[in-house]
Amino acid sequence: MALVPYNDTLLPALAKLHESSAEFDLANHRIRISQNWNQLGVAAVVWDAAVVLCMFLEMGTIDLKGKRAIELGAGTGLVGIVAALLGAKVTITDRKPALEFLAANVQENIPPNQQPSAQVSELTWGENLDLYPPGSYELVLGADIVYLEETFPALLKTLEHLSSENTVVLLSCRIRYERDERFLMDLKRRFSVEEVHYDSERDVHIYRAVKNTSKTEL
Ligand SMILES: C[S@@+](CC[C@H](N)C(=O)[O-])C[C@H]1O[C@@H](n2cnc3c(N)ncnc32)[C@H](O)[C@@H]1O
Repeated sequence: MALVPYNDTLLPALAKLHESSAEFDLANHRIRISQNWNQLGVAAVVWDAAVVLCMFLEMGTIDLKGKRAIELGAGTGLVGIVAALLGAKVTITDRKPALEFLAANVQENIPPNQQPSAQVSELTWGENLDLYPPGSYELVLGADIVYLEETFPALLKTLEHLSSENTVVLLSCRIRYERDERFLMDLKRRFSVEEVHYDSERDVHIYRAVKNTSKTEL
């Protein structure tokens, strides 16, 4: 299994992951994200899938104002930050080792009066899910979280737990390996899934998934 979710032929495009920060103009804000690949690895750099999902949210296809949202595997938190700036109330989650860095980026980029709209919280897929009320989010967001095969069952369980049939799940993915396709097939057994966006420049797909109650009961 690859330790990092890319293959070596893409290395020139990856230099930006080694920068100590990355800047974006999104949601009418200049956002500056600190990065730390050397110490924290995949969770401390901004992946293209996050940028594409932010641009998709900015398009306004989904109304975020006042929506209860949760981001899974947030890494540096760019997606959650943008969702909060666009008006959502977001719980921004990742595994424990990523949280301190994540919280600092969130605090740095959300104006003080909007800070209550963005909570950083630990969520390791499949674990302690009872801390998150089932089906209570209107929007579940995930950028580049489909990459580790051993986490797929727990990720699917987490998506099912967090979603009601009224929840929209948006997953932005670079499909690198056949196993990533297999995850999507498993997702389709539980959710109605459609591709709603493709960024050809960055090779990132966005899938919209809605829990299908009748499929869950099969
Ligand atoms: C490739 S990074 C993507 C980070 C961010 N979403 C982005 O696109 O910039 C994958 C993220 O998933 C998180 N992750 C991996 N396995 C996880 C698990 N079992 N539970 C929760 N988060 C996990 C990592 O900590 C990391 O932040």
